[in-house]
Amino acid sequence: MEKKNQHYSSQFPNVGVKVFTVPVSLHRHLYLFKTVTGVFSYKKLDLGTKVFIEHMTLPKKEGYLLDLGCGYGAIGIVLAYLNPRSSVYLIDTNRRALWCTRENIRHNLSERSGKVIVLHGSYFKPLQNKNIKFEAIYMNPPLRNGRKEFLALCKDMPTFLKRNGQFQFVIKKKMGANYIYNYLIQNLSSLYEKINVTFKRSGYWIFSLVSI
Ligand SMILES: C[S@@+](CC[C@H](N)C(=O)[O-])C[C@H]1O[C@@H](n2cnc3c(N)ncnc32)[C@H](O)[C@@H]1O
Repeated sequence: MEKKNQHYSSQFPNVGVKVFTVPVSLHRHLYLFKTVTGVFSYKKLDLGTKVFIEHMTLPKKEGYLLDLGCGYGAIGIVLAYLNPRSSVYLIDTNRRALWCTRENIRHNLSERSGKVIVLHGSYFKPLQNKNIKFEAIYMNPPLRNGRKEFLALCKDMPTFLKRNGQFQFVIKKKMGANYIYNYLIQNLSSLYEKINVTFKRSGYWIFSLVSI
């Protein structure tokens, strides 16, 4: 494992704190993201995240959106900026990442902090008892936790999606995108109306799963 990403899933990363600013233009808008050591891809926006943000499908209707495993918040913040009438949830286990996310919401989305909600915890645990069904869930998954964990999450996902809700995620081809596609088709076709790879570029595949 590379040292720079060694601690990104930890609840309390055990590395010194150094703050960075990551400027990035997405959908023709300039965002300035504050990041710190111990957070995923803190020196620059991950290429997979960038490809994903540029090519993810935006929901047609307003509603609840979720950035699951938000890191310093890039996906969720862009979603909130582009969908000002929707409520956007951002969840992560890494408290340092969530500190960045809150700062980044304040600096990049100054007028709408009420509809952007940051929660700490593992996957859907922070949503227990909230009874929210999402229009769409977006993710650059922590595959370093293991493919098995991610595939189990794909199985649970429809419980948290509205009818025809979308689960969109990005996978690096080298991290087993093809295996994941075949697994989903063979094992989870009964849970989803559609399982598609909607975009491939720079070694990344974007998936879209539509719930029944
Ligand atoms: C590949 S990084 C993506 C981060 C961010 N979405 C981005 O694109 O820059 C995966 C993120 O998932 C978080 N994560 C790991 N395990 C998690 C879990 N069980 N529940 C929620 N988030 C988790 C990590 O802390 C990390 O921020």
